Amino acid sequence: MTDIQIEAQCSTGVSRQAIEQALVAAGKDLGHLRPADLALLEDFHTMGRIATAQLAGLAEITPGDEVLDAGSGIGGTARYVAKHSRCHVVAVDLTEEYCDRTMAQPACRA
Ligand SMILES: C[S@@+](CC[C@H](N)C(=O)[O-])C[C@H]1O[C@@H](n2cnc3c(N)ncnc32)[C@H](O)[C@@H]1O
Repeated sequence: MTDIQIEAQCSTGVSRQAIEQALVAAGKDLGHLRPADLALLEDFHTMGRIATAQLAGLAEITPGDEVLDAGSGIGGTARYVAKHSRCHVVAVDLTEEYCDRTMAQPACRA
């Protein structure tokens, strides 16, 4: 699968447009999103935040560590690890819309 195919696939499931529509339907102001507004999208993998917490614990990350979250989505796992392990995390994702500041940045203001 090529990078373009991956981005196309990821951009058609939980797309930015679908996310924004759901947020508006829930009464959220897209111009003033808070971290909690994106909570349900933060852990876009099997078992969600439960798995994030368990795997982060197993990794035994310490405050001095540098962590790379490759394929970070909108960055929920990266923010969780940075907050709970008090370490520096770099998050990268192939899907451009997930890296858009208006999508990823609100949750960075935790
Ligand atoms: C199932 S989502 C998981 C997102 C995030 N890790 C989470 O758990 O919430 C997989 C992500 O990996 C990204 N991805 C897939 N292949 C990639 C690659 N080669 N480099 C960077 N990101 C990639 C996709 O764009 C997608 O956002």
